[in-house]
Amino acid sequence: MSQQSARVPAAPAQAPLRVGLVGCGYEGKCLATAAARTSTVDLVAYADPDTAALRSVAAVGPAVSTYSSVDALLDEAAVDAVLVATPSQALYPVSLAAIRAGKHVLVEKPIGLNAEEAAAAESEAARAGVTYMAGYSCRFSLARHVHDLIAAGLTGEVQAITAQFGCERLDRGWLASPETGGGPLLFLGSHLVDMVLWFAGDDPVEVSAHVRRRDDTGADDTSAFLVQFARGALAQCLVTQAASTFFYTVDVHGRAGRVTLRGWNFLEYEVEVRSTKGPAYADPTVIRPHIDRDHITMMLVPELDEFATAIAEGRPPSITAADGRRVLEVLDAVVTASRVGATVRVG
Ligand SMILES: NC(=O)c1ccc[n+]([C@@H]2O[C@H](COP(=O)([O-])OP(=O)(O)OC[C@H]3O[C@@H](n4cnc5c(N)ncnc54)[C@H](O)[C@@H]3O)[C@@H](O)[C@H]2O)c1
Repeated sequence: MSQQSARVPAAPAQAPLRVGLVGCGYEGKCLATAAARTSTVDLVAYADPDTAALRSVAAVGPAVSTYSSVDALLDEAAVDAVLVATPSQALYPVSLAAIRAGKHVLVEKPIGLNAEEAAAAESEAARAGVTYMAGYSCRFSLARHVHDLIAAGLTGEVQAITAQFGCERLDRGWLASPETGGGPLLFLGSHLVDMVLWFAGDDPVEVSAHVRRRDDTGADDTSAFLVQFARGALAQCLVTQAASTFFYTVDVHGRAGRVTLRGWNFLEYEVEVRSTKGPAYADPTVIRPHIDRDHITMMLVPELDEFATAIAEGRPPSITAADGRRVLEVLDAVVTASRVGATVRVG
């Protein structure tokens, strides 16, 4: 019997989203590299007050128009969307300028300095009818790996989480100073809290905390905090710049099993699973993903693709403004709980 091959009509190609990049430092350069590797976005403009940063990003991305400020870019460049990768204290004002100009926004974590800024961006984006996505890029690689295992039922309902993120002392530029959004609590703790909230799949209700600060800069040095969730799960968290090197560990416990994430950077990590759900994980099993790509292709290309596709399909992105706001509500509660020496409500 002869077989006829069924012809599947090709899906209509998605026109590339024209984007402008604001903030051309380390992360901006990574985003420009990611943009050059995907057809879903077309990088057409860069803005940064630092001409050396503009030159450096132009070396990895296409030769496009450059501007010294977001306002100049918004006035002159034909863009549909803005990628915001400035130091944390400028994330909110730059995002707000882009939203008010009617542009879609993909903004780096932690999306602002506090929940008040995040809530204002969220309501402005809703009012303007533009797409606003929080750039928690771990959700496209290592965090997704753990989330998929939890979603497959290997832990059962999450009951308890312990999570730690650490790094060496943050002494460089804006990362050193609390006024500019520095300190590991915002810089790394935002990733940690985003993962904890995503894995718990529940609303955080209360936080108790102790934050030890550096004598020289006043930035948080080491923060230990406990988050309680609506259905009763607890997360015990540590964020420190007193570590000898960058690391993270997240342990997720449920009555059916345990999933542990251990990482040395955002490319190299391992996941250990032990579960009563199925023979494959009856003994502790370590999964070390084969790495044949860099972190830009692994995390940032899918992040840009998700942003552009959500806009093209007219649906919310997988990481919303509300997700970003909830992370900052927890971090605000950590700071308040430590200051007042008592448990505080989240939000
Ligand atoms: N997703 C991740 O894993 C990840 C990793 C690193 C950094 N980040 C985030 O990216 C952002 C930038 O971090 P970085 O390490 O690239 O910092 P950076 O200091 O290397 O770069 C920041 C750049 O922004 C420019 N800038 C400052 N104010 C500006 C403004 N108002 N308008 C335009 N440009 C401005 C600076 O001149 C600089 O070139 C931060 O929010 C950080 O949290 C995210």
